[in-house]
Amino acid sequence: MRELLHDAHGRRISDLRVSVTDRCNFRCQYCMPAEGLPWLEREEVLRFEEIARLVSLLVGLGIEDVRLTGGEPLVRRGFPALVAMLAAIDGIRDLALTTNGYLLERDAGALAAAGVGRVNVSVDSLQRDRFFALTRRDALPRVLRGIEAVAAHPEVRPIKVNAVAMRDFTEAEIARFCEFARSTSFQVRFIEFMPLDGDRAWRPDAVLSGAELRAAIEAIHPLEELPREPAATARVFRFADGEGEIGFVNPVSEPFCADCNRLRLTADGKLRTCLFSLHETDLRGPLRAGADDGELAGLIRGAVWRKELKHRVGEPGFRPPPRTMSAIGG
Ligand code: 5AD
Ligand code: SF4
Repeated sequence: MRELLHDAHGRRISDLRVSVTDRCNFRCQYCMPAEGLPWLEREEVLRFEEIARLVSLLVGLGIEDVRLTGGEPLVRRGFPALVAMLAAIDGIRDLALTTNGYLLERDAGALAAAGVGRVNVSVDSLQRDRFFALTRRDALPRVLRGIEAVAAHPEVRPIKVNAVAMRDFTEAEIARFCEFARSTSFQVRFIEFMPLDGDRAWRPDAVLSGAELRAAIEAIHPLEELPREPAATARVFRFADGEGEIGFVNPVSEPFCADCNRLRLTADGKLRTCLFSLHETDLRGPLRAGADDGELAGLIRGAVWRKELKHRVGEPGFRPPPRTMSAIGG
């Protein structure tokens, strides 16, 4: 029998996040500096065939859920063709996409046809000027049209809207996001700000915690918690008095490392076992040097075995990883 991936802390690893490019057409303040970052050279980035080979191998080792991310995945030329290649791999239960939504109007049809199962779209403000201020792109109407374009494909579900929660910003968004969640079928999720920003401006007091947001919401709308799925990052609630769901991803205030089942592959072919990993395992070098599946599987098993017990955000001596969010893949 094949041996499934697991780490030294007894966790089974079944979820893979693949960053397909480090480039992005937005400059969200919590992620990238206004001037962008030094991008990878084209040669450094895994080709579609290379990604598909590694994903197949990882699925053979027990990965069941695959999420494609960036940077912004849709800026990668021909991206829907990669989705189709991955959708054809036997054994993937869930093929998901995280996007900023800017190019969704253009690509929704192609992505649905290629076999994307579900989509998360980042929307940090529902007010055009504040969206512009945070993402440094005046693109809210276009992103909302993109979400509608995906929603037109009923086979792509669920559609989630993610908002990074930042103190002195997101408070003023709560009411609008509640109305959005109550009046649409999209699940809204607030994600705590993590120290993965390109400007290195993260401070503990810039984190607006899920508990604070929830208290603010419950003051207006009572919430009922839904059962938590194993290894889920979000705590999800329904509005007690009506339709709609709202979730909280609290990696800083309530770390969910104990049942983390995730592994990450960067656009340049490095395996990361934690968002906050200080070490990574190169797969591109061996892959391009002609390593066979057995050798690659050995490298992957070794890296997974050494997966970090937990992140140390907020502890004395915490060091953020040299890569920031757009170069890791959220
Ligand atoms: N903290 C929390 N979430 C972040 N994201 C990007 N940078 C950060 C950060 N510093 C989110 C994006 C997107 C996902 C890929 O990660 O908004 O939803
Ligand atoms: Fe781009 Fe996403 Fe980073 Fe915003 S958070 S700059 S959309 S990669």
